[in-house]
Amino acid sequence: MLNAADNTLLTQVGPGTPMGNLFRRFWLPALLEEELAEPDGAPVKLRLLGEDLVAFRATDGRIGILDAYCAHRRVHLYFGRNEENGIRCVYHGWKFGVDGQCLETPSEPVDNGIARRVKLTSYPAAERGGVIWVYMGGDAPPPLPDFEWSRMPETQRTVTKRVQRSNWAQAVEGGIDSSHVSFLHKHNVKQPNPFKFQDSPLSWKYLELDRHPVFSVDDADYGLLINARRNADPGTYYWRVTQFLLPFYTLTPPTVDPDGCERAAYYGHAWVPIDDHQCWTWSFHASPHHVYSPEEREFLQGRNGIWGPIDERYYPTLNMDNDYGLDRDRQRRDNFTGIDGIQNQDAAVQESMGTIVDRSKERLGQSDLAIVRFRRLMLKLARELQAGQAPRAAAAGELFNVRPVTVLLPAGVPVAQGAARLMHAAATPQENLAPMPG
Ligand code: FES
Ligand SMILES: [Fe+2]
Repeated sequence: MLNAADNTLLTQVGPGTPMGNLFRRFWLPALLEEELAEPDGAPVKLRLLGEDLVAFRATDGRIGILDAYCAHRRVHLYFGRNEENGIRCVYHGWKFGVDGQCLETPSEPVDNGIARRVKLTSYPAAERGGVIWVYMGGDAPPPLPDFEWSRMPETQRTVTKRVQRSNWAQAVEGGIDSSHVSFLHKHNVKQPNPFKFQDSPLSWKYLELDRHPVFSVDDADYGLLINARRNADPGTYYWRVTQFLLPFYTLTPPTVDPDGCERAAYYGHAWVPIDDHQCWTWSFHASPHHVYSPEEREFLQGRNGIWGPIDERYYPTLNMDNDYGLDRDRQRRDNFTGIDGIQNQDAAVQESMGTIVDRSKERLGQSDLAIVRFRRLMLKLARELQAGQAPRAAAAGELFNVRPVTVLLPAGVPVAQGAARLMHAAATPQENLAPMPG
């Protein structure tokens, strides 16, 4: 449980809040590149950390991410015209460049110099891995987080997103809570998927042999290592190591043959706060040694794929307004929840808590260890930043170049030691293109 003051500290992300300040030390995934595909294309509404923004790709290809509201009389610039390297407000024609500088004030009767003195807040943007990133810190941005998936060619990486109507923290807590998988997703864990080369009977054997994994959590420079240990063959443990990376990412270990982990594809997520009551759930997939077939890409990225169904604005069409498609008959017959799809099951339970769960009323158990450690870490970092100490990981992009791990180890070998080599991601995408065995 968390007292009310700590719950507020953990969940509030608006300008000037301690957690909001912590998030503003990091680059954030803001938009998919496909949302700003064309120079002079349609501007996009963007809300992050409780701030309303507008994003556009200018004539010369640069990206502008600005305060959404026109400096003149606060009209939303989403309605603006994206033309000739700037966005022009449709109310009185004032125009702003990608750096927020007011360029023209055509409604003024004379050139009175007002344009030179007016500048909207603007945030640096960067493009990598199919994502448009934004840095909202207000100072010089650090390096981007060097995720392996973000350096993969498009043929071996997917990225997509959908809205979740809950605070970011309870979404992250779903992502690092491995014990729910055997219940909430009971009939989905082996759902058909096109990744035949990944799906290992041996991994499933170990997962099914021991349904009560022992969890341990280690600190890491980038966040936390969450280790799940299962009994395997005599004298060995089957380990699954999930990373939590600051401030809101996870990497999910693959269900491959434990000795094939080095060449395995894996998932990752990010839960990016829109405001205190909503977040974007981003899903990534990296396939270091395999180029996707069209079916695999559709499964990973399609609007009706594993993270769907979503509409053209990336909003789930199964949502709280229609009970996520809950089918009581199926719940009785063949589906633990009666809800289709892992992502919809997660959204249903996490959104059902209310947008900000009252953590003072919880009764946590031993299997909630990772959640306790996550909260403790985030509160500590927010308080340290209040005292003037910035989070080291925010400035050290190279720390993020890691992989999740599935491995069999002799009982005496500590997981930190036994999994260390497998955690290092490839240094370059070229290294990844070695052919698959068999
Ligand atoms: S409100 Fe935008 S130009 Fe007047
Ligand atoms: Fe889940």
